[in-house]
Amino acid sequence: MTSSDQYLRLGPEFYADPHADYAWLREERPVARVITPLGNPVWLITRYDDARGALTDPTLHKDSEEFRQLMEARYGPGRRTFEDAINAHMLSADPPSHTRLRKLVGKAFTGRAIAALRPRIEQIAAELLDAMEAGPDRVDLLDAYAVPLPITVICELLGVPKDDRDDFRSWSNTILQFGDEETHTAAGAAMARYLTDLVDARREHAGDDMLGAIVQASEDTDQLSRHEAISMAFLLLVAGHETTVNLIGTGTFALLRHPEQLAALRADPALVPGAVEEFLRWDGPVHLATVRFTTEPTVIGGVDIPPDEVVLVSLSAANRDPHRYPDADTLDVRRQASSHLAFGHGIHHCLGAALARLEGEVAFTRLLERFPALALDAEPDELTWRPSTLIRGLDRLPVRLR
Ligand code: HEM
Repeated sequence: MTSSDQYLRLGPEFYADPHADYAWLREERPVARVITPLGNPVWLITRYDDARGALTDPTLHKDSEEFRQLMEARYGPGRRTFEDAINAHMLSADPPSHTRLRKLVGKAFTGRAIAALRPRIEQIAAELLDAMEAGPDRVDLLDAYAVPLPITVICELLGVPKDDRDDFRSWSNTILQFGDEETHTAAGAAMARYLTDLVDARREHAGDDMLGAIVQASEDTDQLSRHEAISMAFLLLVAGHETTVNLIGTGTFALLRHPEQLAALRADPALVPGAVEEFLRWDGPVHLATVRFTTEPTVIGGVDIPPDEVVLVSLSAANRDPHRYPDADTLDVRRQASSHLAFGHGIHHCLGAALARLEGEVAFTRLLERFPALALDAEPDELTWRPSTLIRGLDRLPVRLR
């Protein structure tokens, strides 16, 4: 991170180890002006109390025409077209739209509804582990396990054909990270087309899965427009896997670098649910871009923020705030960390939190059980992180299974 008088710039070294920069920011500039890799200035919030407060601050909004125009000015109408096509979802909506959209699918994500998925999640994990057991000793754990597990779960839940997984996995990867703008826009457009076709094809035979229910609701446009149905499918598909992949991937990486923590989990698997919370706190999948917009003058952490500004709440920085968590940089699977902000807070608190927790619990329990000698197959500093301000995740995770 480089600093000028007023701004900080998030560069490539930031992705490799954001926690060092976060520590500095929390201490020196808890409400900082930062230039993102997109080139736009934003306010970055890094302390736990400020972050939690900002996430429930009614003067901070999700829906902003100003921001859409800014993106269009910078990237041209192509990007605007695809983003508009898939952006009418709850995560970029304010009440009352947010309330209506969330309610439509909320029932499917309650603790009880999700608990009923446990046998199927166990089965998917077991099938992946069987395949790993029958295959080579050295694998990329992301490819073999951390990616296919949540993707299969969310595809089945929504009713999205499994054969299309590779396509939307690659589009969604491209959309969520910074790279060549043309590739980015093309991936977005392909994803928007795919989802539009998927939703439209369901108009004939809705089916009894979640996508069917969404399409049926969109038959009654008072409930949901076609545009909102497509956006809902986009959000659930992308939020439903990009994050959980990294809970499993980064969590496993953390364990393999902390043998005493790994030994504690192996000795007492009942610690796994608590360990999942600690992985989320210590290096969670959504690190920076929990975005909000000011529509009126606002004060955060004693700093005046004018209207029409972008505010990013760094959940990862907040989760390592030493004022909230003693020894915050230490990974401790016995820590009671459930008050972390890795799933956000307030009305946009992650709808899929119960599902992600269950997938994490099953994934870690069964992986450790099946491969007692699991080990990292690279030097930790050889591994690279995805160049994204939204998702924190490894590019690959080479392991030896036996
Ligand atoms: C919202 C994190 C898994 C669906 C959020 C937010 C965070 C988050 C931080 C709030 C963002 C904000 O306030 O700006 C995570 C993490 C996950 C995970 C860390 C895995 C470990 C899932 C899964 C689904 C899901 C499996 C399933 C479909 C959603 C949805 C929202 C959301 C629909 C929007 C909620 C709203 O706007 O009311 N998630 N998520 N997430 N998440 Fe997750």
